[in-house]
Amino acid sequence: MTLEKLKQIPADAILGLMTVFQADQSSQKIDLTVGVYRDDQGRTPVMRAVAAAEKRLVENQSSKSYLPPLGVAGFRDGIRKMVLGPQDDSMSPRTGVIQTPGGCGALRVAAEMYRRTGTEEIVSLGGATWGNHRGLMGAAGLALETYPYYDAAAHEILADEMLEKISKLPPQSLIVLQASSHNPTGTDPDADTWDKVIELLEERNILPLFDLAYQGLGDGFDEDVAVIRAAAERLPEMFVAVSCSKNFGLYRERTGALLAMGRDSAQKSVLESQAANVARGIYSMSPAHGPLIVAGIFEDPDLHQGWQEEVQEMRERITRLRSEFAAALAAERSGLDTSWLTTQRGMFSLLGLSESQVDTLREDQHIYMVRDSRINIAGLDGGNMPIVAKAVAPLMA
Ligand code: LMR
Repeated sequence: MTLEKLKQIPADAILGLMTVFQADQSSQKIDLTVGVYRDDQGRTPVMRAVAAAEKRLVENQSSKSYLPPLGVAGFRDGIRKMVLGPQDDSMSPRTGVIQTPGGCGALRVAAEMYRRTGTEEIVSLGGATWGNHRGLMGAAGLALETYPYYDAAAHEILADEMLEKISKLPPQSLIVLQASSHNPTGTDPDADTWDKVIELLEERNILPLFDLAYQGLGDGFDEDVAVIRAAAERLPEMFVAVSCSKNFGLYRERTGALLAMGRDSAQKSVLESQAANVARGIYSMSPAHGPLIVAGIFEDPDLHQGWQEEVQEMRERITRLRSEFAAALAAERSGLDTSWLTTQRGMFSLLGLSESQVDTLREDQHIYMVRDSRINIAGLDGGNMPIVAKAVAPLMA
């Protein structure tokens, strides 16, 4: 037998917990696992702008025929403008865009394109990074390197160590950098450190792949892509993997894009042809529904404005929850320093608990978090926050 050779694989470290949580019969259970935005009622709503654009789409669509290989034009243009902002005019002639199945699709297409260059075939990932980066990059056959990123005990970025490592990476290797609202640490390099990173990438001819999954949910639409815009000014080549899962709430619609930037328009054309060819060989073309919704939002000034306001509401809620959770923990245990929770950004923070502490919280108190003690801040609300604070404060270092 052939398929009998395959062995059972443990469930995904993040997605697997969703299933375990759903099977838990306890009425007390609290879900701080997968990174989805939640409102005060614990729901992950369809965003208002998305619902309006989707309704219009369904009412007006006349065909489900194939799209062009690079995807929906209005989506590709809109995403590029969202990322590049005021630099779009000068950068668009050298920036190729392909619509992809979520940010994951974009990461994988970038990895495959890089592997086709036949250069180093090495990709560096942060010492703390999103769990699926290893799977996505490794599956493209790239050798994985790690650069130091986060001191979990101090809740601080390891800036010097990261820069030191980057200064020794092989030229023409690929490095994955998260642009903002770092998953899982919530901790991003400051402007000065980013500056030094870009300088090293330029000096050493290292190719960056920026993972951009939370634009608008950290400090603001422009602030969250500052490093990408700075890199675009200085570097001849780069990738940006964009996800619309969080900031458009389109998780299951698998909506994303890869920006592939080259020196000039001739290289842009080469990069787009390669991206389309890679995609054709994996999944042929990406689904249209999510991109058509996003294009509908970009193309209608009222919907666009409304969507930006909704993202702002989400961002402000996350920031408020961070302060409230820091205060709730400090109220449970005097002297506990929780200030880092308020300086961090985005949906995630690492509480610094051991795997066995996380397991005990899940088994005994039905509080679910990823085993590295990552919590989804947006999963906290007025009802569950006191319970979580009471349970975790005594365990925190
Ligand atoms: C997360 O990190 O929880 C999300 O990005 C969902 C995922 O696919 O892992």
